[in-house]
Amino acid sequence: MSDPWARLRAERDRQYSEPVDMAARLPSASRTQTATVMDITQANNDGNVHGGSIMRLVDEAAGIAAMRHCHRRVVTASMDDMSFLAPVFIGDLVTVRAMVNDAHRTSMEVGVRVDVENIATEQWRYVASAHLVFVALDVDGQPTEVPPVIAATDEERRRQQRARVRRDQRLLRKEALAAAAKSKERDTS
Ligand SMILES: CC(C)(COP(=O)(O)OP(=O)(O)OC[C@H]1O[C@@H](n2cnc3c(N)ncnc32)[C@H](O)[C@@H]1OP(=O)(O)O)[C@@H](O)C(=O)NCCC(=O)NCCS
Repeated sequence: MSDPWARLRAERDRQYSEPVDMAARLPSASRTQTATVMDITQANNDGNVHGGSIMRLVDEAAGIAAMRHCHRRVVTASMDDMSFLAPVFIGDLVTVRAMVNDAHRTSMEVGVRVDVENIATEQWRYVASAHLVFVALDVDGQPTEVPPVIAATDEERRRQQRARVRRDQRLLRKEALAAAAKSKERDTS
């Protein structure tokens, strides 16, 4: 029997093999918004929404924004610290907004904001923000180049500058951890 998923995947592989226009893109071209009503399957043992359910929504919306920017498959490379500022309850409408802040050779930083609406009272709560890094992959699953970001507004320029500071911090942290691991290896050998 034919496998419909294999056919879909082959078609998607063909689409993702098409050359990508590498001209710089506006952050707004990647703008993504999702809205999801929280149901009982997303509850923790206290009956509130599980933080991990919100993180999944964040990862999904951010991944869509990254794909909109690069027109390739992407993987989540990292998620910066994410603090929850307000609880989310079953029945709440969770809105996740995501946009690419900056892009480098193969990676993109996506900024995400989560808000929640109580549909009955129309009250909104700001729940969380996060920054995620995605890496674009070619059809062989290897990191591949992405178009640069061209910031057009003051707000986009501010986000791009801050994204660059965070990238420097991530790289410094990665180097420091690698150096510490090497020095520990030397000490134990
Ligand atoms: C993300 C991944 C592709 C990077 O692979 P790699 O061998 O480190 O590739 P490279 O060293 O060429 O780095 C590629 C890019 O990823 C970035 N990167 C790698 N690790 C990173 C991290 N932890 N945080 C942020 N960016 C990272 C690099 O800075 C580089 O960006 P640039 O090309 O824009 O400068 C690889 O680690 C991977 O496949 N991880 C698993 C991802 C995954 O499955 N996610 C879902 C989990 S369920």
